[in-house]
Amino acid sequence: MSDFVEIFEVGPRDGLQNEKRMIPVAEKIALIDCLSKGGFRRIEVASFVSPKWVPQMADGAQVLAGIDRAEGVSYAALTPNLRGYEGARAARVDEVAIFASASEGFSKANLNATIAESLERFTPVVEAARRDGMPVRGYVSCVTDCPFDGPVAPGSVATVVAAMQALGCYEVSLGDTIGRGTPEGVDAMLATVLEEMEAAKLAGHFHDTAGRALDNVDVALGRGLRVFDAAVGGLGGCPYAPGAAGNVATEAVMGHLEAAGFVTGLDAAVIAKAAQMAREMRG
Ligand code: HMG
Ligand code: MG
Repeated sequence: MSDFVEIFEVGPRDGLQNEKRMIPVAEKIALIDCLSKGGFRRIEVASFVSPKWVPQMADGAQVLAGIDRAEGVSYAALTPNLRGYEGARAARVDEVAIFASASEGFSKANLNATIAESLERFTPVVEAARRDGMPVRGYVSCVTDCPFDGPVAPGSVATVVAAMQALGCYEVSLGDTIGRGTPEGVDAMLATVLEEMEAAKLAGHFHDTAGRALDNVDVALGRGLRVFDAAVGGLGGCPYAPGAAGNVATEAVMGHLEAAGFVTGLDAAVIAKAAQMAREMRG
């Protein structure tokens, strides 16, 4: 098993989507331009979702038009439907992400659809992406707990992961959306999910509400996962997941991984600067 672990930076999207203050495009661009120098392979920078649902992400096209794209960095955006996909493609993203939930309560709250309806809605998105040669990542939210339905059975997560894989997602990110997952719960979930999709195609996406995110990263490392989503400065939360705190901080995951002997390829000075910018952007 390689000792390289990739941190997928989601701060400009998952981090900023929940901020109360409408953050000017220029501030978002400055943060992304700083992150682009940090050594990331992938940075999620926008969502092409309904502006009525997530007003903070309404400026995705302007953000993508304004950034200085670094060579070797893939700039990603969330696309919940074909309209979002077309917007993301026009803005010249390098990859898109579709996002489903393992629980019906969150699916309804976040996408106004049942799980089955959301998967149906993703079909034309992945078909268009395939025609365009656009890579599609998948998210599955509420992999241990749902803010509406409570604990989520590992089998429900595995079913949605399998569906995302069947749709053609090159990687599926497992979201502890409200940060309530315990190491035991995450481990049990992974044991079941790994029957459907190999560790090399899975990512961990831990919010840090209960301070267990790094323990959950360790459990996932033990299960063979080598990609973790994180947000610089620990920004974030989901507007449709009451109680969701920030994503685990990029700088914390980086420090934790490197102390354990893993290589992240990130530049600590750049990450520290970006984390400072992110904290200043907070409302
Ligand atoms: P809906 O209200 O059922 O859909 O929402 P609709 O088709 O009736 O559209 C409503 C309005 O939005 C219409 O405008 C559409 O035109 C417009 P109106 O006619 O009323 O003026 N619209 C759009 N506008 C721009 N771009 C689009 C788009 N689509 C429709 N793509 C919908 C359904 C899926 C659109 C909505 O529920 C939505 O946008 N949801 C996204 C919510 C979201 O972004 N949540 C946060 C990201 S998920 C997350 O954070 C979790 C994650 O981090 C992992 C984890 O932590 O677990 C990924
Ligand atoms: Mg998230």
